[in-house]
Amino acid sequence: MERTFVMIKPDGVQRCLIGEIISRLEKKGLKIVAMKMMKIERDLAERHYAEHKGKPFFESLVSYVTSGPVVAMVVEGKNAIKIVRTLVGATNPAEAAPGTIRGDFGMEVGRNVIHASDSPESAEREIALFFKPDEIVEYRRID
Ligand code: CMP
Repeated sequence: MERTFVMIKPDGVQRCLIGEIISRLEKKGLKIVAMKMMKIERDLAERHYAEHKGKPFFESLVSYVTSGPVVAMVVEGKNAIKIVRTLVGATNPAEAAPGTIRGDFGMEVGRNVIHASDSPESAEREIALFFKPDEIVEYRRID
């Protein structure tokens, strides 16, 4: 079973999309095994987005994700990383297909509603940044 990290960003929380997004993940067949609402400190945001340090949008990205609460999750399932990225859609909502979360709810790349890990290495790193091992729970999903 694969695990991925998902974060509903401040714009997604402020626009009351938490339930809609969680519902899409659950209805797809994925299992949420950890979840918390939190305000991210600047240090955590910089570490989470370390690969973008030096890019022109880095400062605005960090101030955006620290501007309000986020909902951080660990999502589990077979091929969870790829499946979640498909549900989320392209980074730029202007290019994201209708039916995807960003395609349906986003307008700008700088306010793109949700983050999801893009590789097994990113998933492992991002899950460890946001969750302690004992915050991740095990249970059986019944379909
Ligand atoms: P996310 O999937 O969280 O990963 C990196 C984030 O950087 C991305 O979503 C966008 O929110 C942001 N981002 C990527 N490219 C740009 C850009 N050109 N301008 C502003 N923000 C960007």
